[in-house]
Amino acid sequence: MSHAITVEGLSKRYRIQPGAERSPYRTLRESLVDLVKRPWRGASNDKIDFWALDDVSFQVGRGEVLGVIGRNGAGKSTLLKVLSRITPPTLGQVSLHGRVGSLLEVGTGFHPELTGRENVFLNGAILGMSRGEIQRKFDDIVEFAGLHDFLETPVKRYSTGMFMRLAFSVAAHIQPEILLIDEVLAVGDVGFQKKCLGKMGEVAREGRTVLFVSHQMDALMNICPRSILLEQGKIIAQGPTSDVIERYFASQQSMLSARLDQRQDRKGRKRFQFTETWIEDMDGQRLPSVLAGQSIKLVATYETTDPRLVSPLTVSFAVCMAQGAPVTRFVSDVPGEPLPDDVPARGRIECVIPRMPFNVGRYFYDVLAESGPEFEMEDWVQGAGWLIVEAGDFWGTGRSINQKYPVLLEHSWSLKKND
Ligand SMILES: Nc1ncnc2c1ncn2[C@@H]1O[C@H](COP(=O)(O)OP(=O)(O)O)[C@@H](O)[C@H]1O
Ligand SMILES: [Mg+2]
Repeated sequence: MSHAITVEGLSKRYRIQPGAERSPYRTLRESLVDLVKRPWRGASNDKIDFWALDDVSFQVGRGEVLGVIGRNGAGKSTLLKVLSRITPPTLGQVSLHGRVGSLLEVGTGFHPELTGRENVFLNGAILGMSRGEIQRKFDDIVEFAGLHDFLETPVKRYSTGMFMRLAFSVAAHIQPEILLIDEVLAVGDVGFQKKCLGKMGEVAREGRTVLFVSHQMDALMNICPRSILLEQGKIIAQGPTSDVIERYFASQQSMLSARLDQRQDRKGRKRFQFTETWIEDMDGQRLPSVLAGQSIKLVATYETTDPRLVSPLTVSFAVCMAQGAPVTRFVSDVPGEPLPDDVPARGRIECVIPRMPFNVGRYFYDVLAESGPEFEMEDWVQGAGWLIVEAGDFWGTGRSINQKYPVLLEHSWSLKKND
C-alpha cells in the first residue's frame, strides 16, 4: 500500500514558563494571539523545555482513516498542527503525499484581529488554496457557515461555535486528499456534528486519507478501523480501534487517583477550574461507594477568576462504565431551572440523584463546565471521579438482576387471562 502520511521520529519541544500554562487569566483571544507569536519567541533562562511530541513514528496508507486517541494534553493537536505545517517540528520528519485540508483546534490558522472575510482568505491560503480558488468558493463557504452577517466582524468577537462553523466550512470546500480533523465533534450543536461526520464519511468513501482526533469513542469505532494512542507525547499503542480504546480506558483509570486541582490533563479557558469532586449521601457524608437504590449527591467545587464572564454556567457530569461505554450525562440545565445567573467566585455544585439507578459495577465520570448561550468550554476533566455501585435494594424487594445489565428501572408486571 502506498502511504499518504509518513512520520518518523517526530518531536516537538515547547519552551514554557513554569506555571504559565495554568494562568487563570488567559482568554481565548490571548491564546489566539499567543499562537501567532509564541512559536518563534526565543528561550530565556526561566523557561523550561517541554516535549509535547516525543519521538513519534507512524504511517497512514492512502485512503486509510486513522483515529488518534489520547487524554487532554497528550499531544494530539500538536501532532495535527505539525502535520498541517502550522508549527514546525523540533526533530524528525513528516512527509505528506497530497493536498492537506485541516480542521484544527478552535482558532488555529485564524488571526484574531482580522475579519471573517479576511480570515477565509488567510485560512484558505494556509490550507493551500489559491486566491482565485478561494474567490470562486467564497460565497459557498460563507453560506455553508451561515455567517453572512458577521463577515466584517473581527473574529476575536466570534464565539467558539462561530469559529468552528467558519473553519469547518473552509476545510470542507478545499477538497483535500488528506483531511486532518481535530476534535470538532466536542464543540457545536448536534446538527453541526452531524455535518462533520457526514463530511468525513464522504471523504473516506472517496478514498481520501483522514486523520481523526476525537474523544467520541462511538464515532471513532464507526469511522476508523485503526487508531493510535498518544500519552505524554508518545505513541503507546496502535492497532484495531477497539483494542486501542480498551487500552486508553485502562490507562485512564490510573489518573483517577490524582487530585482534581492538580490535574493538568484538562481543557478550557483557564478562568474557571474544578477543584474537587466527590459523592456524598443526603446527610453530607462522603461515600467511597454507593448502594444501588441509594439517594446521593454528586458534588464538585470550583474557583473562578471571572465570575461574570463564566455566567451563566452549565455544569455536566458525564458517566461512563469503567471500560469507557457512555451511560448517561447529568446536565445542569436539562431537568429544570438552569443554575443561578450570578456565579460566585468559589462555589460548590451539587447534583442530586434519587435512588441510584445503576447496577453493581465501577463507573467513572467526567466533569464539564460551559458558559453562555454558545456553551464555551470553561473546564473539562475526563475521568474526574469514580462512581462505584455496590449491591443495594433498588426495588425494595431484596431481589436484584444480573450485574451484566447496567441500568435499573422501576417497572411493574401483570398477567391476565387472554380470551
Ligand atoms: N504553543 C504552546 N506552547 C507551550 N505549550 C504548548 C503549546 N501548545 C501546546 N502546548 C502543551 O503541549 C501539550 C500537548 O498539547 P496538545 O497537543 O494541545 O494536546 P491535546 O490536543 O492532546 O489535548 C500540553 O501540555 C499543552 O499544554
Ligand atoms: Mg487538542
